[in-house]
Amino acid sequence: MAMLETESNATIPHGADVVTDTEILPIDNETGYRSFRAGSFVFRRDEYFARISWPGGTHAMPVDAYLRALMRDVAWGFFYGTVNFDDVVGTLNHYGEVTLFAGRYNDAYRNAGRDFSERFASETLMPLFKAMVSDWSNANYDPFAAPMETGTPWGAKNGNNDEAVTRTRVAARRMVGLPGDTPVRTDENGFPVNRMFSDVPQDRPVVEVEPGFENEVSAYNLFAYLSRSDVTWNPSVCSVVGDSLFCPTSEEFTLPVDHGNDRCEWFITLSDEIDWDIRDKDSGKPRAKVITKAGDVSCMPADIRHKGFANKRAMLLVWENGSPKIPEMIAKGEAPIVSVTF
Ligand SMILES: [Fe+2]
Repeated sequence: MAMLETESNATIPHGADVVTDTEILPIDNETGYRSFRAGSFVFRRDEYFARISWPGGTHAMPVDAYLRALMRDVAWGFFYGTVNFDDVVGTLNHYGEVTLFAGRYNDAYRNAGRDFSERFASETLMPLFKAMVSDWSNANYDPFAAPMETGTPWGAKNGNNDEAVTRTRVAARRMVGLPGDTPVRTDENGFPVNRMFSDVPQDRPVVEVEPGFENEVSAYNLFAYLSRSDVTWNPSVCSVVGDSLFCPTSEEFTLPVDHGNDRCEWFITLSDEIDWDIRDKDSGKPRAKVITKAGDVSCMPADIRHKGFANKRAMLLVWENGSPKIPEMIAKGEAPIVSVTF
């Protein structure tokens, strides 16, 4: 998604001071990994787990799942709304500031008064997260890749994979392929066709442009473009018309985060099948299962969280209204939480 500049997201009122205190801690003699501190949160990893602690609580996640989620939070710039790494920890984007939380969107933690949150300047927390995904990703592990296309993250510190974890997300200014914009993918620029899309035609549309309109008229084969994506679950801005953003992506295995929307979000399944678990954004209570096959169109409401599953690599077009005003309009009741009312 595009990083949006906006002043506030009213989901969590801004009262407490913004925390600017982060720290990269020394290397552990036993595992070789560094630990990290953001305000009152401390992050450590060992051979199998990421371990997060905060005043009054601790939590562990399998480190493969943790790194896949952290990678998306880093690459997406904290994304729209809520990025739940799992049912306990995650981030809430205020666009310029970000809340790091434990149990905030978990009914059991909330009802017991055991949830904990701190709000950071995004420019404070992001460098710490980048250092963490770099230090904790070993040489043979790519948290952006499908599980069958990478090694495992287990064990003590063993090199790094900075080439993989510093990939930049596509963010077209107008459209992929236009002069001066992000290029189409080819073998030559390092994007071969993925093993699961070898049957996708690679032809290119013929565009005959009237003289004088060379900078304005273009077309490209979106299926061919997506067949060459080297990452999964990474919506990239491929065309922009005002606030209308087309963010196609290829999906395999599971969406590494449980995304809590702060606006409606259209999903057009372009190939194969993607299944979705839909839950209440705040409580995490199950609300729906949505099975989508090629050609199916669905719209996720603004008050849910969702996690996707794709057994075979599939193509998805995510379509969003990227206006920075929407979260606040929804909070004030000025915009609906569903796109269509029947
Ligand atoms: Fe979403």
